[in-house]
Amino acid sequence: MSALRLASRVERIKPSGIRLLLDEVERLGREGTRVINFAIGRPDFDTPPHIKEAAKRALDDGQVHYTLNAGTIPLREAIAEKLKAQNDLHYDPMTEIMATAGACEAVCVACLGLLEPGDEMIYFTPAWTTYAAAAELAGAVPVEIPTRIENDFQPDPDDIRKALTPRTRVIVLNSPNNPTGAVYPRELLQEIARIAEDADLAVVSDEIYEQIVYDSAYSVSFATLPGMAERTLSINGLGKAFSMTGWRVGYMAGPAEAIKALLRVHQNLVASACAFAQAGAREALVNPGNSVAEMVAQYTQRRDALCAGLAQTDKLTVMRPQGTFYSFPALPEDGPDSDEISLRLLREAHVAAVPGKVFGTGYERHMRMSFCSSLEDVEEGARRVAELLNGEFKGVH
Ligand SMILES: Cc1ncc(COP(=O)(O)O)c(C=O)c1O
Repeated sequence: MSALRLASRVERIKPSGIRLLLDEVERLGREGTRVINFAIGRPDFDTPPHIKEAAKRALDDGQVHYTLNAGTIPLREAIAEKLKAQNDLHYDPMTEIMATAGACEAVCVACLGLLEPGDEMIYFTPAWTTYAAAAELAGAVPVEIPTRIENDFQPDPDDIRKALTPRTRVIVLNSPNNPTGAVYPRELLQEIARIAEDADLAVVSDEIYEQIVYDSAYSVSFATLPGMAERTLSINGLGKAFSMTGWRVGYMAGPAEAIKALLRVHQNLVASACAFAQAGAREALVNPGNSVAEMVAQYTQRRDALCAGLAQTDKLTVMRPQGTFYSFPALPEDGPDSDEISLRLLREAHVAAVPGKVFGTGYERHMRMSFCSSLEDVEEGARRVAELLNGEFKGVH
């Protein structure tokens, strides 16, 4: 037994259910079993070559040291330009923007910087797991507000009003949403803005999937709503849009006093984001080319293939994702839950899907299936899922 006594905040953070599943996928891979991986949350594309070249040049130029804590000035200028041109967000690169080690770090910095121990942070479930963990790290209480597939996973503003207490400080928004693929319309965000104003809440808006949207859906940046820029931290990152998850570059933009104070958290956590990765990130923002549109065109085909494949069983209720590369279908109430089904899928059909309970309370009958593998794999994986649920699995082709 270890003599290291751990702090209670560590005990409260649940081990990542996704990681445990991916470890199993890796183990099966080592044994020679090829698994169709619907569990992973990252694009399967390579980072576009010109972005890699920019990072290589930065390395050769000796950009191997710490950078300014808030990030290099060229990167912050590129972020400010991007936010202005694409999001109608107006931030000063010198005082209102901070480059972070991924959006992950930005979320943790926001929670550590905004929440006192015992404060409450509202977030909509099912949700990406880091929001609750970041609130726990801050000693705060994550408060789940469930959304339902019957309502296309759109939050109900009345549920937010009911959840408010004198300790509510922060509301977290994530649209386009991981794991549901929902995109929140402007009218809903306007209602949330009214609540934030009335209850004097800070808003953390994680917009990392903003560019991955389908059909007529589009992502509204929360801070563009009247009066919201002063109470919002806008969080974004390069990982999903440019297939750069391993580069660990994200960013946060917000009011100057808040960014100045939050830099003290960031400074002590990571000092700065990786120097040469920042050079690559700047290149991605300044010269995005067609890479995002090309990836989205492929995700659209994969989404359609997944939905068409899953429609071959009546054992799943599926919402057609409007954004991201995730679907969060529901199993019937009267059958086995998604823990059991995802285990059977992995063992019998060699398909990995994440059980819904990982994303919040009450999602035991959902699974998250990401469509960031090849079109052929998505088609084949969806066939196996439908056949297994129909009780007529014809084997691995
Ligand atoms: C909603 C959401 N925000 C942030 C992140 C993490 O982004 P990054 O890789 O930039 O830390 C993820 C990763 O899955 C995510 O799903």
